[in-house]
Amino acid sequence: MSSSARVLWKIAVLVSVGFAHSTLYEGSCSSARSGEDWSGETSLPVGGEQFGSERDETPRFNLGTGPESRRAFVREATLHAWRGYAEKAWGTDELQPLSGRGKNNFGGVGATIVDSISTLYIMGFKDEFNEAKSWVESELNFDGVGEVIVFETVIRILGGLLSAYHLSGEEVFLHKAEDLGRRLQKSFATKTGFPFPRCDLNSTSCGFHRDYGRHVLLAEIGSIQLEFRALSFHSNDQSAAALREHAERVIEMLKEMGPKENKGLIPYLLDINSGRFSNGYITLGSPSDSYFEYLLKTWIQGGRQEDMFRDMFLEVMDGIFAFMRVYVGDGITILQELAGNSQPRKKMDHFTCYLPGVVTLGLELASLEERKTWMSFAENVTSTCFGMYRWSPCGLAAEHIEVDEDDFLYFSGGYMLRPEVTEALFYMWRSTHEPKYREWGWEIFESIERWCRTDLAFTVLVETNSEDPAQGDSMPSFFIAETLKYLYLLFSDDDRLSLNNWVFNTEGHPLLITPGLIKTE
Ligand SMILES: *[C@@H]1O[C@H](CO)[C@@H](O)[C@H](O)[C@H]1NC(C)=O
Ligand SMILES: *[C@@H]1O[C@H](CO)[C@@H](O)[C@H](O)[C@H]1NC(C)=O
Repeated sequence: MSSSARVLWKIAVLVSVGFAHSTLYEGSCSSARSGEDWSGETSLPVGGEQFGSERDETPRFNLGTGPESRRAFVREATLHAWRGYAEKAWGTDELQPLSGRGKNNFGGVGATIVDSISTLYIMGFKDEFNEAKSWVESELNFDGVGEVIVFETVIRILGGLLSAYHLSGEEVFLHKAEDLGRRLQKSFATKTGFPFPRCDLNSTSCGFHRDYGRHVLLAEIGSIQLEFRALSFHSNDQSAAALREHAERVIEMLKEMGPKENKGLIPYLLDINSGRFSNGYITLGSPSDSYFEYLLKTWIQGGRQEDMFRDMFLEVMDGIFAFMRVYVGDGITILQELAGNSQPRKKMDHFTCYLPGVVTLGLELASLEERKTWMSFAENVTSTCFGMYRWSPCGLAAEHIEVDEDDFLYFSGGYMLRPEVTEALFYMWRSTHEPKYREWGWEIFESIERWCRTDLAFTVLVETNSEDPAQGDSMPSFFIAETLKYLYLLFSDDDRLSLNNWVFNTEGHPLLITPGLIKTE
């Protein structure tokens, strides 16, 4: 337990303060996608999703509380964040909203611009979309970019460019993605084929994380598949085909090497030379999280035909139900972490809240009896994740939640404008249409407006256990890419980015489901 953690409330008290936990799922699953025949499905063409068509008007509170009004507020917040960045930090990676400066924490690739394009398109910000496109066309030049983190570059930049291409059909995004792909190919030049964590985009050199020696993290090798596969589908480049094979080979290796005693759950640290696991620590949160997510999403992306990904995902679900669920109070589900040979920790990251979305997305794979359990599990985790917001004095969640032997609940860390809970609410809404998920999303949005909005943009909080929390000086690029996008989609109709056509990468970028991706021998 970190020293900064503080006891807030005893669980029993906490639950009685009016946090209405969800009731067991009893719906008929009519909205779930089970029973549909996927085989004959034709997918949307590139550029086939229409540009957003909202009217540009300043929202006013007398617009009412319907979804249109709420979308207008989310749009206004997005524009505010975008304009602050554009005014003070244009071309840098991220805005520091308090000091009004930009910073290059991703190598100087204009991360906020590239990461925002899909959101601008979906929300219908034509001028801003065109500004971003012109910047990509004329300013985004990887020749001047030195060392980057491969994983972050793949999910934010490559994913952002490919999503922009899939949505708009504009070739410039594809060409930049191809250029970036070529520069990342060298990352796979290791004994195992696990990619190096860091590479220079403008030279041939790659290297390791400063903290982990010759070891790599599960999420960073296991959640790059959607992006490289999407690239290979559209590109005739030899390197794109090779990238796809490298990325898929990583998953095959994990299947071969992974310890089996915890079913599909595998530890987060691997040796880049031997391919062996370097520790026994299992978590669904960071730094493993999106690996579990990509097993399912990779299967969906390819039109649900590649059994390896599906089977590995189902093993993960078995593992979660067998080892990870811990109840610490009525209506609260904490997912524990398995710390090798020592005691499990009842600790859950904000990161882990991506999980309900993945479970509802995978519902079509559950048997009839399993379906109720999966849905109830997704609801319970979502309630707990939303609880991390509602139980906090400022209405915004800390980075971690942990429960000790005496059932005291601890929170630690600030609020980083993270997306996982708005993402969970989006998926829960899509699969149940229970109004509470929209209400919860709105409550979170109001707290963000209240505590994170600055004159310039939005900023993180360094603490959450306060009725007047102190602000930090950072607006991560995922705030526009994910947090605001998922809120907007939560208040949109289901055919806006239909889950029949789109699969979201772990940075919130929608990529087309592409059954033709599968090679036919
Ligand atoms: C690569 O980019 C870095 C800046 O990020 C620069 O310092 C370095 O000189 C560049 N190298 C080449 C070969 O262009
Ligand atoms: C969800 O929570 C309820 C209430 O605590 C519990 O009865 C139920 O078993 C939980 N469901 C799952 C699948 O964990």
